[in-house]
Amino acid sequence: MSDAPPTKTAPPAVSGATSASPVTANWRGHLRVGSIVAETPGVKTFRLLPSSSDRFLPFTFVPGQFLNVAFWIGGARMIRSYSISSSPTRREYVELTVKREPRGAVSRHIVDLLKVGDLIEAAGPVGKFTFDGTEADSVVLISAGVGITPMVSVTRYLTERAWAGDIFFIFTCRTPADFILGNEVATLQRANPKLHVAVTMTRSEGTGWKGPRGRITKELLTQTVPDLASRRIQLCGPLPMMEATKAILAELGVPPENLKTEQFGAVKPAPAAAGIALKPTAPATGPLVTFSTNNKSARIHADQTVLELSEELGIGIDFSCRIGTCGVCKVKMTSGEVDQAVQDALDDDDKANGIILACQAKPKSDIAVEA
Ligand SMILES: Cc1cc2nc3c(=O)[nH]c(=O)nc-3n(C[C@H](O)[C@H](O)[C@H](O)COP(=O)(O)OP(=O)(O)OC[C@H]3O[C@@H](n4cnc5c(N)ncnc54)[C@H](O)[C@@H]3O)c2cc1C
Ligand code: FES
Repeated sequence: MSDAPPTKTAPPAVSGATSASPVTANWRGHLRVGSIVAETPGVKTFRLLPSSSDRFLPFTFVPGQFLNVAFWIGGARMIRSYSISSSPTRREYVELTVKREPRGAVSRHIVDLLKVGDLIEAAGPVGKFTFDGTEADSVVLISAGVGITPMVSVTRYLTERAWAGDIFFIFTCRTPADFILGNEVATLQRANPKLHVAVTMTRSEGTGWKGPRGRITKELLTQTVPDLASRRIQLCGPLPMMEATKAILAELGVPPENLKTEQFGAVKPAPAAAGIALKPTAPATGPLVTFSTNNKSARIHADQTVLELSEELGIGIDFSCRIGTCGVCKVKMTSGEVDQAVQDALDDDDKANGIILACQAKPKSDIAVEA
């Protein structure tokens, strides 16, 4: 973002970010929009290039990972996560495929306003929703809507590598016009005899669609994938589709350790996006939370997260997903104890060093955090 106001939280470019040698973790810097392709109504793919004259990106990634991108919108810095849809074999660029949410703060900014040549502030790559062919000898990729993006990255990579395993690619959307990256899936299918594609459309009446109709069902899964329960499965899509599919997979005897999932965001919009009033009415009686950097303390409400309390107090902890996936809200806790329902974004080093996810953390005792 060339026009970003100065901020103490703006990340500096890390050492190596402008060199051709790969930096595989904790990269922060800028990428330049190289090209923009309209995929479906409201969905565009942005090819991002190094911001310098370097030929190669300053980081590498594993298929299924995502980038966190930051924008200044209406005077506020907003961060969101986007899965990389291109293959890691393409060292010159990454592609993000973004769906415009009708009332979304950042996705509308990206889809409506971003132009070729713009600089984007980005960090990553991050995420554990990965598959590179070493984890299992076959894979079942189940997705809906824009949840297709990490699946396309995985399929592109495995196809380019002539991976010997079977790839079962199961996807659902409303109509053929909503099939994001549909041409790419067809191209991969022609190139890869090990790629088995099953697509079902939920609102295909009058569209000429000749394939399966309706949602993903037990029958569709068992007809497409032999021995489903013994295979590695990756699932990504809107929450209701994920919940329904998880229930079917459990019924079909898929052990939890065979299933990897990624949810793309919270059910409710972020307060800043929705203009939700942040001040609860009743006085808080929970543990005391001290934000040491800001020299502020307050008691927390029952069921409130550290992130929500920080927003009430006007303390700027960055966030993106608010569901424990992206890691943008990591803060260091210097004393006390918290419960965290989801800890997907924390690795062993984080846990050993007292790092918590503010969007998940609910204090069990008085705590102090560096924020
Ligand atoms: C790991 C990960 C990977 C992701 N990958 C992708 C990807 O590849 N492609 C992609 O498109 N997205 C992806 N997402 C989702 C993305 O990060 C954003 O959540 C999404 O673009 C919406 O952001 P936004 O700022 O536009 O919406 P927000 O402003 O954050 O709003 C969130 C939702 O609330 C709705 N909303 C906002 N305001 C209101 C209101 N006043 N009343 C009612 N509803 C409202 C919006 O329409 C939107 O659906 C990913 C998310 C995660 C966590
Ligand atoms: S905001 Fe994404 S993990 Fe907390």
